[in-house]
Amino acid sequence: MILYGGGDHALGLWEICQLRGIVVKGFFDDGEGPFALPKEAHLGAYDPTIYPEEPIIVAITDNTIRRNLSLRIKHPIAPPLVHPHAYVAPSATLENGVVVLAGAVIHSQSYIGAHAIINSGAIVEHFARIGAFTHLSPGVIAACRSEVGEGCFIGTGAIIVPHVSVGEGCIVGAGSLVLHKLPPFTRAWGHPAKSQAESPLL
Ligand SMILES: CC(C)(COP(=O)(O)OP(=O)(O)OC[C@H]1O[C@@H](n2cnc3c(N)ncnc32)[C@H](O)[C@@H]1OP(=O)(O)O)[C@@H](O)C(=O)NCCC(=O)NCCS
Repeated sequence: MILYGGGDHALGLWEICQLRGIVVKGFFDDGEGPFALPKEAHLGAYDPTIYPEEPIIVAITDNTIRRNLSLRIKHPIAPPLVHPHAYVAPSATLENGVVVLAGAVIHSQSYIGAHAIINSGAIVEHFARIGAFTHLSPGVIAACRSEVGEGCFIGTGAIIVPHVSVGEGCIVGAGSLVLHKLPPFTRAWGHPAKSQAESPLL
């Protein structure tokens, strides 16, 4: 395994690999550090000729950067990396590049798209669908048959109620309660979540 990214998120994934007995050959990082990972494991900037057969996980939480890097990678994308203290139902589908952190629950018949992050303690209930490159922050609940589109950022502890959909590229604030459908690229927060005016973030 190789990680792409050497920051705090990468450290969490490095430790999952240790717990799972997966050997990490090192990490690529195009920056100079400082890194959360051991400096001696730094393989330098991304280079497709280094361990070219080794599977890789893009260990970066920013959805746009994660997407852009994944598009230029030549290494095979690793199968889902799941913390040993997460629950993944046998009937759930997880695409390659997905990471699932400690305490997360991914229930029956749910679907997690490529390179999504299901962070600590997040819950994806049965038949829910989470799009590629989306990040569910710690403690998010995506209730049964809810849908979160591609490239969404869902803040810590937010709740998406059953059968509600969040369009692609949405940002949902921490602690929000999403009761109604959010159109693509909406920024929303609050209790219940209300759509916010446009901002430079988008
Ligand atoms: C939604 C979010 C991205 C907005 O960030 P932002 O555009 O920088 O917004 P600001 O911090 O400038 O806040 C703008 C206003 O919205 C309010 N606001 C922001 N986030 C809010 C939230 N989650 N719930 C309620 N109100 C919120 C602020 O209080 C502020 O109100 P004010 O102008 O009356 O003071 C951010 O607040 C957030 O919730 N991030 C989640 C972080 C997180 O969970 N990270 C997990 C990492 S693992």
